[in-house]
Amino acid sequence: MTAPKTFAVKSFGCQMNVYDGERMAELMAADGLVPAADPAHADLVVLNTCHIRERATEKVYSDIGRLRKDAAKRGAVAPMIAVAGCVAQAEGAEIVRRAKVDVVVGPQAYHNLPALVAKAAAGEAGLDTDMPVDSKFGHLPARRRVGPTAFLTVQEGCDKFCTYCVVPYTRGAEVSRSFAAIVDEAKALVDAGAREITLLGQNVNAWEDEDGRGLDHLIRTLDRIPGLARIRYTTSHPNDMRQGLIDAHRDVESLMPFLHLPVQSGSDRVLKAMNRSHTTDSYLRVIDRVRAARSDIALSGDFIVGFPGETEAEFADTLRLVGAVGYAQAFSFKYSPRPGTPAADMADQIAPDVMDDRLQRLQAALNRDQAAFNAAAVGRTCDVLIERKGKLPGQMLGKSPWLQSVHLIGNHAIGDLVTVELVEAGPNSLTGRMPGRIAA
Ligand code: SAH
Ligand code: SF4
Ligand code: F3S
Repeated sequence: MTAPKTFAVKSFGCQMNVYDGERMAELMAADGLVPAADPAHADLVVLNTCHIRERATEKVYSDIGRLRKDAAKRGAVAPMIAVAGCVAQAEGAEIVRRAKVDVVVGPQAYHNLPALVAKAAAGEAGLDTDMPVDSKFGHLPARRRVGPTAFLTVQEGCDKFCTYCVVPYTRGAEVSRSFAAIVDEAKALVDAGAREITLLGQNVNAWEDEDGRGLDHLIRTLDRIPGLARIRYTTSHPNDMRQGLIDAHRDVESLMPFLHLPVQSGSDRVLKAMNRSHTTDSYLRVIDRVRAARSDIALSGDFIVGFPGETEAEFADTLRLVGAVGYAQAFSFKYSPRPGTPAADMADQIAPDVMDDRLQRLQAALNRDQAAFNAAAVGRTCDVLIERKGKLPGQMLGKSPWLQSVHLIGNHAIGDLVTVELVEAGPNSLTGRMPGRIAA
């Protein structure tokens, strides 16, 4: 196989995978490859995979098959394929054996991607799913150009071992990146055009520096970077929500009033079986403290319906919790048994039609609350960070502090912060108007 000249990265799954995908693209660019004008015709395709729910693995195999078939149809040579991300970590050599891909690289080893690609070009399949003590971050090239909103991974891995979840196995133990490395990268991102940075981690609020200072210390430091207008962070665990971080929501102006705090279930029996190590009550008390610090905060959550043994009454407890919190937005999923996790072997797996029904009812409640949250924002004046052009002429799209999509008509550049009045709400977005204007 000849050495690839062009590449494309396709990322699935969470925002941390999006971040990793960007870093892999930067690595390959630094190695002399160029992004393919048409990703479907790239010489090297990196599939940056997710393992969190069912069929992820099968999807990777079918993607690989399709890439090869499409190339054959065009009479072109099949692209070199690199499988990265959490399926790569979970399946490892099995992918090389089954799909004969050229490279398999895990989420903690992708700094070795250029070397693995070179090895593959020389005819030898490359596999690296190590989780080295010496982290990949020190081996990645500097950030160059980014959009107005950028991701920055500050923490990786998970020690919580919820019984349904693969993340502790695919991403390894909880590790915090060093304070200095994060601040340097944040400055580089701002120099490269970012106005908003979202700090990422599987348990981002478990981040701490060498002296045990928490995420609030990092946020207060980043707040002082000139040109950085907004800071966000995700995903947090209820048990790691320290008071310092809650206080930062009260006093740090650039910290946006938004908190994604997954709870998964409103039943204490189910939470225990999930090994969540919090109760509905302790979760609600965290929410109360957060709201006391920042009354307008938008709350978001993750939910799983149909965990093994979940009864109708336990599911009703989840609906009750949703009603008590009033989420601005949320993600909800049907439980998916993951190979190697304790819950996959539990008795009383829930029938698919019961899960479907519960998911529908939960989503109806969450949609109702999201619409209510959006409707309640009408009449507020707020800043919108312009992220891109809209479909209509003169239309621009951006985000409110509460992470709502806002469209407006105006002559703005991407990256501008524009003060608008929110004048109309839909279920998924709002309309903003420059104060003083008659029509949007
Ligand atoms: N670390 C974060 C999120 C991890 S994965 C946290 O603990 O909150 C993102 C979401 O995927 C989880 O919050 C959970 O709702 C969902 N998820 C994880 N494993 C799942 C599984 N086996 N089946 C269904 N949903 C799952
Ligand atoms: Fe998975 Fe639980 Fe860790 Fe979140 S806290 S990544 S759900 S094991
Ligand atoms: Fe998926 Fe891995 Fe993220 S399993 S959700 S890509 S941590």
